[in-house]
Amino acid sequence: MTELEPREPQGEVEATNIGRRGFVRYLFGFSIVSTVVGVLTPVVSYLWPPSRSAQAVGGRVLVGTTADIPPGKATVLPVNDKPVIVVHTRDGQVRAFSAICTHLGCVCEWEEKRQFILCPCHDGRFNALTGAVMAGPPPAPLPPVATVVEGGNIYVGGA
Ligand code: FES
Repeated sequence: MTELEPREPQGEVEATNIGRRGFVRYLFGFSIVSTVVGVLTPVVSYLWPPSRSAQAVGGRVLVGTTADIPPGKATVLPVNDKPVIVVHTRDGQVRAFSAICTHLGCVCEWEEKRQFILCPCHDGRFNALTGAVMAGPPPAPLPPVATVVEGGNIYVGGA
């Protein structure tokens, strides 16, 4: 430092260093806490999964109304963590089946034009009323899921 350069007062330099040190300590502490929380959260979630309501575990589930799924339509939705296809036939009958294809496990969809359940993977076809195999490689029908219609509400699952 030459004699011509202005000198900083000693107190300000100390205050700036303490501020930086404090900030670095804060960042270091924050990163440690973030890492610990990031590591522990999935472990705790795995060990103690969130509890579910009775309706979501084995009980019947309201999946919509007959207006939501009008005659001739169907929808695939998760029920108790499994895909279920709910079919409302053109003649007004409501059925539900597991949407997991019995061939290799693809999720089935609704073929609205031809009114059957279609597995898009290998063109497996299932009857909309019975879940029986109509064509393709599936070795077994789609398992039925209990269905109840009450006052226009469609419930699936349960006993
Ligand atoms: S997985 Fe469905 S027909 Fe092959």
